[in-house]
Amino acid sequence: MSLQSYVSHADQWEQRATIRSRPRRIVEDDDLSYYPVERQPLYAHPAVIDAGREVQDYILLQSFYKYINDVIIFETEIVNRTALAIAKSRFPFEFPFACRSDAMSVVIDENYHAYVAMDYLDQVERSTGIGPIEQNREIELSRAIPRAMEYVPPQYAAGMELLGVAISENTVTAEVAAFSRDTTLKRSVKGVMADHLADEGRHSVFWINLVKLYWSEIDETARIELGRGLPFFLREYLTNELQLEFDRRLIGTLDLPAATRERIANDMVGAYPITNQHPMIVNIRKFLKMAGLLEHEPTRAAIAQYL
Ligand SMILES: [Fe+2]
Ligand SMILES: [Fe+2]
Repeated sequence: MSLQSYVSHADQWEQRATIRSRPRRIVEDDDLSYYPVERQPLYAHPAVIDAGREVQDYILLQSFYKYINDVIIFETEIVNRTALAIAKSRFPFEFPFACRSDAMSVVIDENYHAYVAMDYLDQVERSTGIGPIEQNREIELSRAIPRAMEYVPPQYAAGMELLGVAISENTVTAEVAAFSRDTTLKRSVKGVMADHLADEGRHSVFWINLVKLYWSEIDETARIELGRGLPFFLREYLTNELQLEFDRRLIGTLDLPAATRERIANDMVGAYPITNQHPMIVNIRKFLKMAGLLEHEPTRAAIAQYL
């Protein structure tokens, strides 16, 4: 891909961006869930099943709050930071105007998604009368990206940041897609996710093209260094620590005897195995292939364990 061949998504954005085209989503009063049960192993723990529907619903609701909170952190603190740097030519690579203006549209979309998420959270809180428990202040990427940037020689830190954000934007798209198809979820939850997905599909393509362009313009040493940084980034990104921390806190708030809570907590270790079949890894592999990174032998070799 060359600097001239990049095609802006501006026309698509004008017509389809959700901020331009979608109405507000209103939470409905029905028995459907806020969160997919298969994404929260706690839900199926025998002691939780014994505890009954109210405890199970509470777990799904709190998991939903966490998911939305994480998405807001991701959009406002991770994606926007990098997209804004590109849009304002602060990123140390000369992207053409089409890329910079598309990056600015990403900033608008992400801020809008965060706004929609806040509004919907507030509606759910009012309708259930249950507020979120103490939330994590960081997501995996809040640590993985800066650590990977520090890991590579300083002149490649920005490139590492770009790869990290591009990889995670592709992961988020796949996640939101799975949510929007789930039949056990409330119509408004699926609606919020479907709206989000409509924008994230465009973002996915944007980040793939941006990385493709970047990768084809940087020199071989840069490619080798970034390729070396990738497995380090992936290891930091794909961890269960924060999820387990949250789950432990959540278990602590369940309306159950202390001994039962302790038993559930002990069983939770290892509840989120990250293997080579993990959907996140499948997506990451797809991204690396589409962005052209797998055609680079040294990079391929560096991340062989994930291929
Ligand atoms: Fe988003
Ligand atoms: Fe996005």
